[in-house]
Amino acid sequence: MRVVIIGCGYVGLPLGAELARRGHTVVGVRRSAEGDDELRAAGITPMTADVTQPETLAALPGRFDWVVNAVSSTKGGAPEYRAVYLEGTRHLLDWLAAHPPQQYIHLSSTSVYGQTDGALVDETAATAPAGETSQILVETEQLLRTAASERGFPAVILRAAGIYGPGRGHLFQQFLRDEARIAGDGSRVLNMIHRDDLVGAIIAALEHGQRGEIYNAADDESVSQMDFFRWLATKLSKPLPPFAGEAENAARKRGLTNKRVVNGKLKTALRYAFTYPTFREGYASEIARLGLL
Ligand SMILES: NC(=O)c1ccc[n+]([C@@H]2O[C@H](COP(=O)([O-])OP(=O)(O)OC[C@H]3O[C@@H](n4cnc5c(N)ncnc54)[C@H](OP(=O)(O)O)[C@@H]3O)[C@@H](O)[C@H]2O)c1
Repeated sequence: MRVVIIGCGYVGLPLGAELARRGHTVVGVRRSAEGDDELRAAGITPMTADVTQPETLAALPGRFDWVVNAVSSTKGGAPEYRAVYLEGTRHLLDWLAAHPPQQYIHLSSTSVYGQTDGALVDETAATAPAGETSQILVETEQLLRTAASERGFPAVILRAAGIYGPGRGHLFQQFLRDEARIAGDGSRVLNMIHRDDLVGAIIAALEHGQRGEIYNAADDESVSQMDFFRWLATKLSKPLPPFAGEAENAARKRGLTNKRVVNGKLKTALRYAFTYPTFREGYASEIARLGLL
Protein backbone atom coordinates (compact mmCIF):
# COMPACT_ATOMS: atom_id res chain seq x y z
CA MET A 1 0.00 0.00 0.00
CA ARG A 2 0.99 3.62 -0.43
CA VAL A 3 0.44 5.14 2.99
CA VAL A 4 0.58 8.75 4.16
CA ILE A 5 0.75 9.61 7.84
CA ILE A 6 -0.29 13.19 8.40
CA GLY A 7 1.37 14.24 11.68
CA CYS A 8 4.32 11.89 11.90
CA GLY A 9 5.17 12.43 15.58
CA TYR A 10 5.22 10.36 18.76
CA VAL A 11 2.63 7.90 17.41
CA GLY A 12 3.00 8.51 13.67
CA LEU A 13 6.72 7.80 13.50
CA PRO A 14 6.69 4.28 15.00
CA LEU A 15 3.51 3.61 13.01
CA GLY A 16 5.31 4.55 9.81
CA ALA A 17 8.36 2.52 10.79
CA GLU A 18 6.22 -0.58 11.39
CA LEU A 19 4.28 -0.14 8.14
CA ALA A 20 7.54 0.30 6.21
CA ARG A 21 8.92 -2.82 7.92
CA ARG A 22 5.86 -4.69 6.64
CA GLY A 23 6.65 -3.65 3.08
CA HIS A 24 4.34 -0.68 2.60
CA THR A 25 5.51 2.58 1.02
CA VAL A 26 5.20 5.25 3.70
CA VAL A 27 5.18 9.04 3.49
CA GLY A 28 5.32 10.99 6.76
CA VAL A 29 4.04 14.58 6.85
CA ARG A 30 5.07 17.28 9.29
CA ARG A 31 5.05 21.07 9.10
CA SER A 32 8.83 21.37 9.24
CA ALA A 33 11.70 19.42 7.69
CA GLU A 34 13.66 19.47 10.94
CA GLY A 35 13.21 15.78 11.76
CA ASP A 36 13.54 14.48 8.20
CA ASP A 37 16.64 12.38 8.96
CA GLU A 38 14.78 10.64 11.78
CA LEU A 39 11.94 9.76 9.41
CA ARG A 40 14.30 8.53 6.69
CA ALA A 41 16.13 6.35 9.22
CA ALA A 42 12.76 4.73 10.00
CA GLY A 43 12.13 3.95 6.33
CA ILE A 44 9.65 6.82 5.91
CA THR A 45 9.78 9.39 3.10
CA PRO A 46 9.46 12.82 4.74
CA MET A 47 7.26 15.53 3.25
CA THR A 48 6.15 18.88 4.59
CA ALA A 49 2.61 20.23 4.64
CA ASP A 50 0.35 21.94 7.15
CA VAL A 51 -3.25 20.76 7.49
CA THR A 52 -4.29 24.31 8.34
CA GLN A 53 -2.92 25.50 4.95
CA PRO A 54 -4.82 23.63 2.19
CA GLU A 55 -2.46 24.77 -0.58
CA THR A 56 0.38 22.85 1.11
CA LEU A 57 -1.70 19.65 0.99
CA ALA A 58 -2.48 20.22 -2.68
CA ALA A 59 1.28 20.36 -3.32
CA LEU A 60 1.83 16.83 -1.92
CA PRO A 61 2.62 14.48 -4.78
CA GLY A 62 0.82 11.24 -5.56
CA ARG A 63 -2.24 9.29 -4.52
CA PHE A 64 -2.48 7.25 -1.37
CA ASP A 65 -4.25 3.97 -0.53
CA TRP A 66 -4.21 4.47 3.21
CA VAL A 67 -4.30 7.81 5.06
CA VAL A 68 -3.78 8.23 8.80
CA ASN A 69 -4.39 11.57 10.47
CA ALA A 70 -2.27 11.67 13.65
CA VAL A 71 -1.79 15.43 13.75
CA SER A 72 -1.81 16.94 17.21
CA SER A 73 -2.61 20.48 18.23
CA THR A 74 0.36 20.23 20.65
CA LYS A 75 -1.97 21.15 23.49
CA GLY A 76 -3.28 24.61 22.57
CA GLY A 77 -6.72 26.00 23.22
CA ALA A 78 -10.02 26.01 21.33
CA PRO A 79 -8.79 28.14 18.39
CA GLU A 80 -5.88 25.74 17.76
CA TYR A 81 -8.17 22.71 18.12
CA ARG A 82 -10.60 24.19 15.63
CA ALA A 83 -7.83 24.99 13.13
CA VAL A 84 -5.94 21.70 13.44
CA TYR A 85 -8.67 19.11 14.02
CA LEU A 86 -11.90 20.48 12.54
CA GLU A 87 -10.66 22.73 9.73
CA GLY A 88 -7.61 20.50 9.20
CA THR A 89 -9.91 17.51 8.65
CA ARG A 90 -12.09 19.56 6.30
CA HIS A 91 -8.99 20.42 4.27
CA LEU A 92 -7.89 16.78 4.22
CA LEU A 93 -11.35 15.73 2.99
CA ASP A 94 -11.22 18.35 0.23
CA TRP A 95 -7.70 17.30 -0.74
CA LEU A 96 -8.72 13.63 -0.95
CA ALA A 97 -12.03 14.25 -2.76
CA ALA A 98 -10.56 13.73 -6.23
CA HIS A 99 -8.74 10.52 -5.28
CA PRO A 100 -10.31 8.96 -2.17
CA PRO A 101 -8.11 6.45 -0.37
CA GLN A 102 -9.22 2.90 0.46
CA GLN A 103 -8.96 3.61 4.17
CA TYR A 104 -8.72 6.77 6.27
CA ILE A 105 -7.98 6.56 9.99
CA HIS A 106 -8.69 9.53 12.21
CA LEU A 107 -7.16 9.64 15.68
CA SER A 108 -9.72 11.09 18.03
CA SER A 109 -9.72 10.97 21.82
CA THR A 110 -11.67 9.39 24.67
CA SER A 111 -12.07 12.96 25.92
CA VAL A 112 -15.19 13.06 23.72
CA TYR A 113 -16.86 11.14 26.57
CA GLY A 114 -17.81 13.77 29.13
CA GLN A 115 -19.13 11.32 31.74
CA THR A 116 -18.21 12.21 35.31
CA ASP A 117 -19.86 9.36 37.23
CA GLY A 118 -17.34 6.58 36.60
CA ALA A 119 -19.67 4.96 34.04
CA LEU A 120 -18.54 2.30 31.59
CA VAL A 121 -18.38 3.91 28.15
CA ASP A 122 -18.42 1.94 24.92
CA GLU A 123 -18.66 3.48 21.45
CA THR A 124 -22.43 3.96 21.79
CA ALA A 125 -22.13 6.10 24.94
CA ALA A 126 -23.13 9.76 24.81
CA THR A 127 -20.49 12.23 23.64
CA ALA A 128 -21.46 15.48 25.31
CA PRO A 129 -18.24 16.75 26.86
CA ALA A 130 -18.28 19.97 28.85
CA GLY A 131 -14.98 21.35 27.53
CA GLU A 132 -14.89 23.34 24.30
CA THR A 133 -11.80 21.55 22.98
CA SER A 134 -13.45 18.15 23.44
CA GLN A 135 -16.60 19.47 21.74
CA ILE A 136 -14.46 20.35 18.73
CA LEU A 137 -13.22 16.76 18.63
CA VAL A 138 -16.86 15.59 18.60
CA GLU A 139 -17.62 18.00 15.71
CA THR A 140 -14.61 16.65 13.82
CA GLU A 141 -15.85 13.09 14.25
CA GLN A 142 -19.29 14.17 13.02
CA LEU A 143 -17.77 15.75 9.93
CA LEU A 144 -16.07 12.45 9.06
CA ARG A 145 -19.10 10.30 9.83
CA THR A 146 -21.25 12.50 7.59
CA ALA A 147 -18.68 12.14 4.79
CA ALA A 148 -18.79 8.37 5.34
CA SER A 149 -22.59 8.08 5.31
CA GLU A 150 -23.38 10.65 2.61
CA ARG A 151 -20.65 9.94 0.07
CA GLY A 152 -19.00 6.72 1.19
CA PHE A 153 -15.77 8.32 2.37
CA PRO A 154 -13.81 5.49 4.08
CA ALA A 155 -13.41 7.21 7.46
CA VAL A 156 -12.67 5.10 10.54
CA ILE A 157 -12.37 6.78 13.92
CA LEU A 158 -10.13 5.61 16.76
CA ARG A 159 -10.76 7.22 20.14
CA ALA A 160 -7.41 7.03 21.93
CA ALA A 161 -7.09 7.06 25.71
CA GLY A 162 -4.12 8.76 27.42
CA ILE A 163 -1.04 7.74 25.45
CA TYR A 164 2.04 6.65 27.39
CA GLY A 165 5.25 4.87 26.47
CA PRO A 166 8.94 5.65 25.99
CA GLY A 167 9.51 9.14 27.39
CA ARG A 168 5.75 9.84 27.78
CA GLY A 169 3.30 9.61 30.66
CA HIS A 170 2.49 12.79 32.53
CA LEU A 171 1.62 11.38 35.99
CA PHE A 172 4.48 8.88 35.84
CA GLN A 173 6.99 11.61 35.09
CA GLN A 174 5.59 13.80 37.86
CA PHE A 175 5.89 10.81 40.19
CA LEU A 176 9.56 10.29 39.24
CA ARG A 177 10.26 13.99 39.88
CA ASP A 178 8.46 13.82 43.27
CA GLU A 179 6.03 16.42 41.95
CA ALA A 180 2.92 14.23 41.76
CA ARG A 181 -0.14 15.03 43.86
CA ILE A 182 -3.16 12.80 44.45
CA ALA A 183 -6.21 14.68 43.18
CA GLY A 184 -9.28 14.71 45.43
CA ASP A 185 -9.55 11.36 47.22
CA GLY A 186 -7.67 9.60 44.42
CA SER A 187 -10.76 7.88 43.02
CA ARG A 188 -10.72 9.55 39.60
CA VAL A 189 -10.30 6.87 36.95
CA LEU A 190 -7.50 6.93 34.37
CA ASN A 191 -7.73 5.29 30.94
CA MET A 192 -4.51 4.62 29.09
CA ILE A 193 -2.96 2.98 26.07
CA HIS A 194 0.69 2.23 25.39
CA ARG A 195 2.02 3.92 22.27
CA ASP A 196 2.97 0.58 20.71
CA ASP A 197 -0.56 -0.72 21.20
CA LEU A 198 -2.01 2.42 19.64
CA VAL A 199 0.26 1.78 16.66
CA GLY A 200 -1.04 -1.80 16.56
CA ALA A 201 -4.64 -0.62 16.85
CA ILE A 202 -4.17 1.82 13.96
CA ILE A 203 -2.76 -0.97 11.78
CA ALA A 204 -5.70 -3.22 12.78
CA ALA A 205 -8.06 -0.37 11.83
CA LEU A 206 -6.30 0.09 8.48
CA GLU A 207 -6.70 -3.62 7.78
CA HIS A 208 -10.14 -4.34 9.24
CA GLY A 209 -11.87 -1.04 10.16
CA GLN A 210 -15.37 -0.53 8.76
CA ARG A 211 -16.40 2.71 7.09
CA GLY A 212 -17.99 5.19 9.48
CA GLU A 213 -17.25 3.04 12.54
CA ILE A 214 -15.74 4.19 15.81
CA TYR A 215 -13.42 2.09 17.97
CA ASN A 216 -12.21 2.91 21.47
CA ALA A 217 -8.45 2.50 21.80
CA ALA A 218 -7.83 2.00 25.51
CA ASP A 219 -6.20 -0.91 27.31
CA ASP A 220 -7.91 -3.53 29.49
CA GLU A 221 -7.68 -1.78 32.86
CA SER A 222 -9.16 1.54 33.85
CA VAL A 223 -7.45 2.39 37.12
CA SER A 224 -8.05 4.92 39.86
CA GLN A 225 -5.33 7.50 40.28
CA MET A 226 -4.75 6.19 43.82
CA ASP A 227 -4.24 2.59 42.63
CA PHE A 228 -1.95 3.80 39.86
CA PHE A 229 0.26 5.67 42.32
CA ARG A 230 0.12 2.73 44.78
CA TRP A 231 1.42 0.43 42.06
CA LEU A 232 4.22 2.83 41.13
CA ALA A 233 5.13 3.41 44.79
CA THR A 234 5.40 -0.33 45.44
CA LYS A 235 7.25 -1.02 42.19
CA LEU A 236 9.80 1.76 42.71
CA SER A 237 9.95 1.54 46.54
CA LYS A 238 8.98 5.18 46.89
CA PRO A 239 6.37 6.83 49.12
CA LEU A 240 2.90 7.64 47.83
CA PRO A 241 2.60 11.25 46.64
CA PRO A 242 0.87 13.71 48.97
CA PHE A 243 -2.75 14.74 48.44
CA ALA A 244 -3.33 17.95 46.47
CA GLY A 245 -4.45 20.98 48.45
CA GLU A 246 -7.95 22.43 48.24
CA ALA A 247 -6.98 25.25 45.89
CA GLU A 248 -5.23 22.84 43.53
CA ASN A 249 -8.22 20.48 43.51
CA ALA A 250 -10.64 23.34 42.86
CA ALA A 251 -8.50 24.60 39.96
CA ARG A 252 -8.26 21.13 38.42
CA LYS A 253 -11.83 20.07 38.89
CA ARG A 254 -13.39 22.00 36.03
CA GLY A 255 -13.84 19.86 32.97
CA LEU A 256 -12.43 16.68 34.51
CA THR A 257 -14.17 13.53 33.38
CA ASN A 258 -14.46 10.23 35.18
CA LYS A 259 -15.32 7.13 33.15
CA ARG A 260 -14.17 3.61 32.34
CA VAL A 261 -13.48 3.17 28.65
CA VAL A 262 -14.52 -0.22 27.25
CA ASN A 263 -12.29 -1.73 24.53
CA GLY A 264 -14.25 -4.86 23.51
CA LYS A 265 -14.95 -3.66 19.98
CA LEU A 266 -11.24 -3.12 19.28
CA LYS A 267 -10.47 -6.66 20.41
CA THR A 268 -13.36 -8.41 18.68
CA ALA A 269 -14.22 -6.41 15.56
CA LEU A 270 -10.62 -5.35 14.80
CA ARG A 271 -9.14 -8.57 16.26
CA TYR A 272 -6.51 -6.61 18.14
CA ALA A 273 -4.41 -8.39 20.79
CA PHE A 274 -2.61 -6.08 23.22
CA THR A 275 1.15 -6.19 23.80
CA TYR A 276 0.63 -4.26 27.04
CA PRO A 277 -2.88 -5.20 28.25
CA THR A 278 -2.59 -2.89 31.27
CA PHE A 279 -0.41 -0.06 32.54
CA ARG A 280 1.37 -2.64 34.72
CA GLU A 281 3.09 -4.35 31.78
CA GLY A 282 3.57 -1.06 29.93
CA TYR A 283 5.15 0.85 32.80
CA ALA A 284 7.20 -2.19 33.89
CA SER A 285 8.72 -2.01 30.41
CA GLU A 286 9.32 1.76 30.65
CA ILE A 287 10.81 1.40 34.15
CA ALA A 288 13.17 -1.28 32.80
CA ARG A 289 14.04 0.89 29.78
CA LEU A 290 14.94 3.75 32.11
CA GLY A 291 17.05 1.39 34.27
CA LEU A 292 15.12 2.39 37.38
CA LEU A 293 15.18 -1.10 38.94
N1 LIG B 1 -1.42 12.46 23.91
C1 LIG B 1 -2.49 11.78 24.25
O1 LIG B 1 -2.62 11.25 25.35
C2 LIG B 1 -3.62 11.63 23.23
C3 LIG B 1 -4.83 11.10 23.64
C4 LIG B 1 -5.82 10.90 22.70
C5 LIG B 1 -5.59 11.22 21.37
N2 LIG B 1 -4.40 11.76 20.99
C6 LIG B 1 -4.19 12.04 19.56
O2 LIG B 1 -3.20 11.15 19.07
C7 LIG B 1 -2.59 11.73 17.92
C8 LIG B 1 -1.08 11.55 17.96
O3 LIG B 1 -0.54 12.23 19.06
P1 LIG B 1 1.03 12.35 19.26
O4 LIG B 1 1.30 12.23 20.69
O5 LIG B 1 1.73 11.43 18.30
O6 LIG B 1 1.29 13.85 18.78
P2 LIG B 1 2.68 14.57 18.53
O7 LIG B 1 3.84 13.77 19.04
O8 LIG B 1 2.53 15.98 18.98
O9 LIG B 1 2.81 14.52 16.94
C9 LIG B 1 2.00 15.30 16.13
C10 LIG B 1 2.68 15.44 14.78
O10 LIG B 1 1.87 16.28 13.97
C11 LIG B 1 2.68 17.25 13.32
N3 LIG B 1 1.82 18.42 13.15
C12 LIG B 1 1.36 19.26 14.11
N4 LIG B 1 0.57 20.20 13.57
C13 LIG B 1 0.51 19.93 12.26
C14 LIG B 1 -0.15 20.54 11.16
N5 LIG B 1 -0.90 21.64 11.34
N6 LIG B 1 -0.01 20.00 9.92
C15 LIG B 1 0.76 18.90 9.73
N7 LIG B 1 1.41 18.27 10.75
C16 LIG B 1 1.30 18.79 11.97
C17 LIG B 1 3.85 17.47 14.26
O11 LIG B 1 5.04 17.82 13.60
P3 LIG B 1 5.42 19.39 13.35
O12 LIG B 1 5.27 20.08 14.66
O13 LIG B 1 6.82 19.34 12.78
O14 LIG B 1 4.45 19.84 12.34
C18 LIG B 1 4.06 16.06 14.82
O15 LIG B 1 4.90 15.33 13.98
C19 LIG B 1 -3.08 13.17 17.85
O16 LIG B 1 -4.12 13.22 16.92
C20 LIG B 1 -3.63 13.41 19.23
O17 LIG B 1 -4.65 14.37 19.18
C21 LIG B 1 -3.42 11.97 21.89
